[in-house]
Amino acid sequence: MGGDGGKKVFTLAEISEHNNAKDCWLLIDGKVYNVTKFLEDHPGGDEVLVSATGKDATDDFEDVGHSTSARAMMDEFYVGDIDSSTIPARMKYTPPKQPHYNPDKTSEFVIKLLQFLLPLVILGVAFGIRYYTKSA
Ligand code: HEM
Repeated sequence: MGGDGGKKVFTLAEISEHNNAKDCWLLIDGKVYNVTKFLEDHPGGDEVLVSATGKDATDDFEDVGHSTSARAMMDEFYVGDIDSSTIPARMKYTPPKQPHYNPDKTSEFVIKLLQFLLPLVILGVAFGIRYYTKSA
């Protein structure tokens, strides 16, 4: 749909070159956006946009639940379309790279477990002591 319209068709490799704060392109829903000038005005910050480069950022974009006014702004940054055959299947979803996201939840889990178990252990010991001192 839309034909050429004077807009270019890019490969994923071409788009991926624009992957920094001075030159930032996004691929969303098959369309390519040059958001370099928008970086510092983006309400969600520049870092998320830069880290969404070099891949299909559709899921990242949709996960936020952008408003209709956010969607209306996109026209302004539209520079062309993707040659979809250049997107490898396994790249269609990669989780967003959050700056301070810590995927290792083990220590958190151990603390939660101890918070639950420790009172039970103390209670058990208390009853144990009571029982043995009584029968002695
Ligand atoms: C051309 C592309 C984009 C435009 C025009 C845009 C525009 C906006 C606008 C106007 C908002 C304010 C809330 C709203 O109206 O929905 C917003 C919020 C946000 N955006 Fe984007 N955005 C774009 C791409 C992205 C991408 C690719 C990501 C994620 C990687 C992202 C992450 C966020 C986040 C996390 C917020 C929430 C900020 C908050 O609620 O504190 N945006 N964006």
